[in-house]
Amino acid sequence: MITGKFPSLRLRRNRKSDWSRRLVEENNLTPNDFILPIFLIDGKNKKQAIKSMPDVYRYTLDKVSFVVDKAIKKGLPMIALFPYTEKNKKNDLGTEALNENNLVCKAIQLIKKKYKNEIGIMCDVALDPYTSHGHDGLFKSGYVLNDETIKVLINQSLLQAQMGCDVLAPSDMMDGRIGKIRKALDKENFKNVQILSYAAKYASSFYGPFRDAIGSKNFFKGDKKTYQMDFRNSDEALREISLDIKEGADIVMVKPGMPYLDIIKSIKEKFKIPVFAYQVSGEYSLLSNAIKKKLVNKKIVFESLMAFKRAGANAIVSYYADRLDKIL
Ligand code: PBG
Repeated sequence: MITGKFPSLRLRRNRKSDWSRRLVEENNLTPNDFILPIFLIDGKNKKQAIKSMPDVYRYTLDKVSFVVDKAIKKGLPMIALFPYTEKNKKNDLGTEALNENNLVCKAIQLIKKKYKNEIGIMCDVALDPYTSHGHDGLFKSGYVLNDETIKVLINQSLLQAQMGCDVLAPSDMMDGRIGKIRKALDKENFKNVQILSYAAKYASSFYGPFRDAIGSKNFFKGDKKTYQMDFRNSDEALREISLDIKEGADIVMVKPGMPYLDIIKSIKEKFKIPVFAYQVSGEYSLLSNAIKKKLVNKKIVFESLMAFKRAGANAIVSYYADRLDKIL
């Protein structure tokens, strides 16, 4: 409660100098708050630019250590792996997801062998990098099948856990998958594999550049509105979160990030569970392009990331995570 009033009360007093502002700061960001997404691509000795995402690259496996080394040195707790899948490996059923020699499986093994437990690995559980139609699940007569998709997601989860993945992140928005995946993991003795549920994931146009990055842009038509959330809704996000918590999610994610700060805040207020935010590809490209065009100062990145903290996010998935020393 604020007592007193102007002119004896002056809120500007605490802002009078840098040291004072630092003392009264309510939030801050450190490398511990960040997860770095890494895009993988087949082949050798490649660091491939992604047209729609300035300064973000796809790496071949022989180059991945370079990125992971840097992430560890900068103090990041976790990386998230995403594969670019060549057209000839995509099909209707997304069977490449269950290939134990797929790019993600090879990357997990390589990273775990070299770095042990120095850094966490998070992997998406969803079929979209692997399906010829670009949907996150099995697609039949214009509809993404729920229960049938869950069966595949369970196998994808078990496979990634077996390879050494630390955190499984179902990002498909099928109903009931968290409980089923948890049960399967426990049964196979993966009791310590965490589940980070993309519980409030909206059908969003902010994912555009990501679809380019994983090579599903030219395959995907339509939208994901029958499974991802309607961006007009917020109560529904709380229902999604509450269900996933009951089903066993260890952490929940809100995605996209900046247009959904209200959702982060209400989840944080209502449920005492770690909440992560995903500053998605479209947000990243908007900010980066505006900076490149000198429309705005690069400090907008720090300001945007701080907004996640203020809203209550415990950690942020961000394509800026490998350049924090220039940002924080
Ligand atoms: C796949 C997935 C998507 C993103 C992360 N996992 C795209 C989608 O749902 O279409 C988007 C990330 C980004 O835009 O940075 N299920």
